[in-house]
Amino acid sequence: MGSRGWNRCLALELLLLSLSLLAISIQGHLVHMTVVSGSNVSLNISESLPENYKQLTWFYTFDQKIVEWDSGKSKYFESKFKGRIRLDPQSGALYISKVQKEDNSTYIMRVLKKDGYEQEWKIKLQVLDPVPKPVIKIEKREDVDDNCYLKLSCVIPGESVNYTWYGELPKEIQNSVLETTFKPHKHSRCYTCQVSNSVSSKNGTFCFSPPCTMARSFGVEWIASWLVITVPIILGLLLI
Ligand SMILES: *[C@@H]1O[C@H](CO)[C@@H](O)[C@H](O)[C@H]1NC(C)=O
Ligand SMILES: *[C@@H]1O[C@H](CO)[C@@H](O)[C@H](O)[C@H]1NC(C)=O
Ligand SMILES: *[C@@H]1O[C@H](CO)[C@@H](O)[C@H](O)[C@H]1NC(C)=O
Ligand SMILES: *[C@@H]1O[C@H](CO)[C@@H](O)[C@H](O)[C@H]1NC(C)=O
Ligand SMILES: *[C@@H]1O[C@H](CO)[C@@H](O)[C@H](O)[C@H]1NC(C)=O
Repeated sequence: MGSRGWNRCLALELLLLSLSLLAISIQGHLVHMTVVSGSNVSLNISESLPENYKQLTWFYTFDQKIVEWDSGKSKYFESKFKGRIRLDPQSGALYISKVQKEDNSTYIMRVLKKDGYEQEWKIKLQVLDPVPKPVIKIEKREDVDDNCYLKLSCVIPGESVNYTWYGELPKEIQNSVLETTFKPHKHSRCYTCQVSNSVSSKNGTFCFSPPCTMARSFGVEWIASWLVITVPIILGLLLI
């Protein structure tokens, strides 16, 4: 077939495809999956496949075929998935190993039934990286009465995450910034920032011993942005 023939063929296929997509948006339902990058996933449907189906095709978005099963044989197409995928014709499941962030898409499985009708299922796959280690910025101040004021900022650059602070607090704080003051106290106090997305979570912990000294830290990078001791030292110096 010449390239013009191919183009016509492709155009027809796209047309048929969009018609069948239209049908599926009425009868099919969309399954959402969220997975961590690097894991192995299995895209499958909860129901069983139509009996004695003739052909089964998996698409990455609506115009790129990944694999097609026909007459007892699976044909894997040239795609970024080559070598990372496997089709189980029995269940229709598509296994993808070492899933990448770029693999997130709406996958479509199209089945040609023995009566000549087609049926489609869609699976929306979202691939997320694990959250990085949190970075905590510390601002602290103590006054003459040894009260300690702390402002701890927990940051992950450019990521969509949730923050929760745990520690000696009236309640958990769902915010990236924790501000607290404590009075002179015998024990040290620890604060943990938990950063999480729907596939992973990481903790960073800071401990302070009285009155306002950083004692220990775990699992964090940290920056002390300013340390102000509000004892009037300068005034004292001036008076000498
Ligand atoms: C993913 O599957 C591959 C083989 O396809 C295997 O070698 C690897 O251990 C699996 N990884 C995980 C995290 O299950
Ligand atoms: C279908 O997917 C579920 C959840 O991902 C998995 O537990 C199950 O083993 C899969 N079934 C097949 C046949 O792959
Ligand atoms: C996949 O990820 C890219 C980049 O994060 C995003 O632009 C795109 O909308 C995502 N696609 C789906 C189907 O989630
Ligand atoms: C943050 O938490 C809210 C409420 O629990 C949730 O709906 C949202 O998806 C979470 N965001 C992330 C990035 O995990
Ligand atoms: C993070 O800290 C919270 C609160 O202390 C705790 O419940 C959770 O198990 C910790 N998670 C990890 C991964 O250490």
